[in-house]
Amino acid sequence: MSESTVQLLFNLSGRVALITGGSGYLGQSFCRALAEAGATVVVASRLQSRAQRVADGLPCVGTAKHFGVELDQLDEASVAAGFTAAVNAAGAVDILINNGQQGHALDLTNVTADAFSSDLKNATGYFLLARHLRDHVVARGAAGAVVMVGSMYGVVGSYPDAYDGVCMASPVQYHALKGGIIHMTRHLAVYWGKDGVRVNCLSPGPFPSDKAPAEMVERLKTKSPMGRMGVPQELNGALLLLASDAGSYITGQNLLVDGGWTAW
Ligand SMILES: NC(=O)c1ccc[n+]([C@@H]2O[C@H](COP(=O)([O-])OP(=O)(O)OC[C@H]3O[C@@H](n4cnc5c(N)ncnc54)[C@H](OP(=O)(O)O)[C@@H]3O)[C@@H](O)[C@H]2O)c1
Repeated sequence: MSESTVQLLFNLSGRVALITGGSGYLGQSFCRALAEAGATVVVASRLQSRAQRVADGLPCVGTAKHFGVELDQLDEASVAAGFTAAVNAAGAVDILINNGQQGHALDLTNVTADAFSSDLKNATGYFLLARHLRDHVVARGAAGAVVMVGSMYGVVGSYPDAYDGVCMASPVQYHALKGGIIHMTRHLAVYWGKDGVRVNCLSPGPFPSDKAPAEMVERLKTKSPMGRMGVPQELNGALLLLASDAGSYITGQNLLVDGGWTAW
């Protein structure tokens, strides 16, 4: 392997990244980071017009162009159609960021069987998309990188007192989902390592948006060694590490970016 500069290792010029949930709080920041690193970004949303709006707002480095595609990760046919649309628009896909999340605001006191099972289907969507990416890059004889977005709540339980009397606790099905995504990452990495497809998980700690209840946020701060919440751009370095050649020997890992939350 020839030696490269640090700048080139993180450079995504000539690569295409497909990202789900690109319209979301963290997703918009991820899209910008990928675009700023030189990638062509295909933004996926359940709504084509929303995906296109995000894509149109991204900076273009060099010859990179950005696209929007419709994709519902809870629907197998939509996953297949969305992946094909991404390949047709951009010519290829090299990097997949599985970031989208559809959930119910129901916790362990009131979640129904249907809502629980429906939330777990997010993992099915992450898997199906990852397999599309794997098959696509293998057919091209290219390398691929998959980044699953997990959560600190896939690794540790939540603090009941952080939510008590303010809002619903973090949903039990979310903990089951994210723990499963982190472990699926390891399994896929093992099977696809020799195919040149790296699979890693980026697990954010607490990154509440402005919509989160202020009192809950204050309580969460007391649970963090750094005493504060994260802001989206603090995930971007880790995202680029896992998505780019800078992470070429990293696979099967769960990288926690959590201000030390899980170190306690
Ligand atoms: N924010 C945090 O503190 C935090 C902490 C740990 C982990 N995370 C994880 O980080 C990721 C992003 O979180 P966020 O805070 O940015 O959430 P968010 O703002 O709610 O964004 C979620 C995105 O998921 C997309 N989505 C919803 N249902 C979908 C479906 N069926 N198929 C495909 N996409 C779907 C939505 O896009 P459309 O409506 O456009 O389809 C939306 O943009 C999630 O996986 C979340 O679990 C977040």
